[in-house]
Amino acid sequence: MASRNTSKRRFAEFLERFRSGYYSTETPDGEPGTGASENDSSGSSESDGKLSPERKQKRRGYLRQYIRELWPHWRMVLMLLVLALIVAGLDLIQPLFLRHIIDNVLLVEAATDWKLAQLHTIAFIFLAVVVVGQLLGIWRSWSQRLLNVRVILTLRRALFERMLRLPLDKLSEMKTGGIIARLTDDINTTTGLLQMAVISPGVAIIRLLIAMVILFVINWKLALTALAVIPPIMLISFIAIRRIRPVYRAIRKDVADVDGRVGEAFQGVRAVRVFSGEHREEQEYTIGHHTITRMQMYARKREIILWSSWGFLMALISVVIIWAGGYWFIRGQATIGDISAFQIYAFMLLNPVWQIVESLSELQRSMAAMERVFEIINSPADKPDRAGAINVEPIVNEIKFDNVWFSYNEKDYVIQDFNLTVPGGSIVALVGRSGAGKTTITDLVARFYDPTRGQILLNERDLRDYRLNSYRELLGVVQQEVFLFDGSVRDNIAYSNRGATIDDVIHAAKRAHAHEFIVNLPDGYDSIIGERGVKLSGGQRQRLSIARALLADPQILILDEATSNLDTESEQLIQQSMTELLKDRTTFIIAHRLSTITHADLIIVMDSGEIVEQGTHDQLMSREGLYTEMVRRQFDGVNIF
Ligand SMILES: Nc1ncnc2c1ncn2[C@@H]1O[C@H](COP(=O)(O)OP(=O)(O)OP(=O)(O)O)[C@@H](O)[C@H]1O
Ligand SMILES: [Mg+2]
Repeated sequence: MASRNTSKRRFAEFLERFRSGYYSTETPDGEPGTGASENDSSGSSESDGKLSPERKQKRRGYLRQYIRELWPHWRMVLMLLVLALIVAGLDLIQPLFLRHIIDNVLLVEAATDWKLAQLHTIAFIFLAVVVVGQLLGIWRSWSQRLLNVRVILTLRRALFERMLRLPLDKLSEMKTGGIIARLTDDINTTTGLLQMAVISPGVAIIRLLIAMVILFVINWKLALTALAVIPPIMLISFIAIRRIRPVYRAIRKDVADVDGRVGEAFQGVRAVRVFSGEHREEQEYTIGHHTITRMQMYARKREIILWSSWGFLMALISVVIIWAGGYWFIRGQATIGDISAFQIYAFMLLNPVWQIVESLSELQRSMAAMERVFEIINSPADKPDRAGAINVEPIVNEIKFDNVWFSYNEKDYVIQDFNLTVPGGSIVALVGRSGAGKTTITDLVARFYDPTRGQILLNERDLRDYRLNSYRELLGVVQQEVFLFDGSVRDNIAYSNRGATIDDVIHAAKRAHAHEFIVNLPDGYDSIIGERGVKLSGGQRQRLSIARALLADPQILILDEATSNLDTESEQLIQQSMTELLKDRTTFIIAHRLSTITHADLIIVMDSGEIVEQGTHDQLMSREGLYTEMVRRQFDGVNIF
């Protein structure tokens, strides 16, 4: 890392990557270098713009899908195109008025009255054309916006809907940043595709063609001279877009990285302080922004050079038109009106040229964004129901693990040959050292994951044969890591049951022994608890979470270290109310503090994903095995209750 400790070095690294074309290609997985690591292989391995046949085919599929998405709006798309053409036409005939007035009114020998009359008429029509053109232009922009927001809304909704249901591993792979980026930037860029790929270049080409035809009809010699400057202009636009845009893209990404770290630093500000990380964070931030400044200056420098040459060319066109036009005027082959009209047309040509070049380059970016969006929309939701899946009846007679194997990565099995029968209504405690696989077992019960091999049966039917939604209604889960929303206490408890009345909420809170502390909060049940519940203590968060699970009145209750942050007294209080509570439920309890599970109907001692012992507390104690050892260590050792 030492080698990266100056902005100069980092800038040099950036230059190297930039020159190798690293930033000029779009990958389907995001902006280049999304991997956040230096030796990122995913971004650079995509060779410049050359797509593999499969990806091309995929892209075509997505494009068809996008067009289908647009299909309900085809009238609007058509109208937009027609409007754009009319506006372009009205724009393009404007210089002709000037030419006509100069050549056929101002400069002809005729009576003053006739000239004035002509002038007024033509100028009035001119004015009308300008006004109508502007009004239609406003209408066009408005319709374009309207279409855009409609498509954005549809896509965004579809994407969000799918993201909420994606398999957990896929989501954690995308990370929060990636999820947000897809919902915002990618959706916006995808929607721009219509404008970029169809409307803008279409209109620009037609504009260019109309303008050229007019120019050649007016004066072909002058036209040829003036058009000679178009190729260099195209070249400059092309360079500008190809060589400067990527720098800005790289800058945006770096800014996101540096500022992302800022977010982390402040979220974990305690860790930063404790480990005296202020200086390191400060350095990281300063160097990061210094590198960004260098990159910005680099982009600016190139921009200035390019824009000055662009400006030079613009001036050059004027000179050429005056010079060549003057020459042909003197020789009687051009009129003053021609020259004036050409001056204006020359500038009118620049815009479409720029737009065509821009579309070409933006197209790639929009396509990549589109791929990212549709890839998600098309990916299968987490565990779609099997054909013929049935609704579960709300009675639990038995839950049975039948030779269950499970692996997170299809290599190492964290659960191995797990067999267990849990009669309905019983309390099963899972104990074992950290990493033994306890949470994994309950995740399998909750169907956050499905067994890799074997099956879990509920009432002698594979869990996968039940509709997931109906099955989840049986479940209440209090997880090891409590998750609360920024909102009121009441809303957080009622999250599990939207229809709950305040009385239900209070009742649940009382049973979770949360009521006492809630009424002491400044606004009672309406107190806002801050992001992720930061304004509460760990134990308070756990109690809210228990209340939430209880309010759902679940048949199957999973308590994963649900009371680990509580003092022994509160824990025992909850335990007492729990015994009452757990009566008709099937409960899985995970606890490190063994004193809290002695009353369980069945204690499962796990090690490395396997059951090593099982039985009631008394049975296990008389066996003098691992459980006894664990209990002794806790009671004799540090854990004094
Ligand atoms: N999302 C995941 N991806 C890959 N491996 C995982 C994942 N979650 C857990 N593991 C691995 O699976 C094993 C079992 O983890 P699990 O969370 O079930 O342990 P645990 O018994 O609940 O431990 P603890 O008491 O510390 O909560 C561990 O070795 C862990 O590294
Ligand atoms: Mg765990």
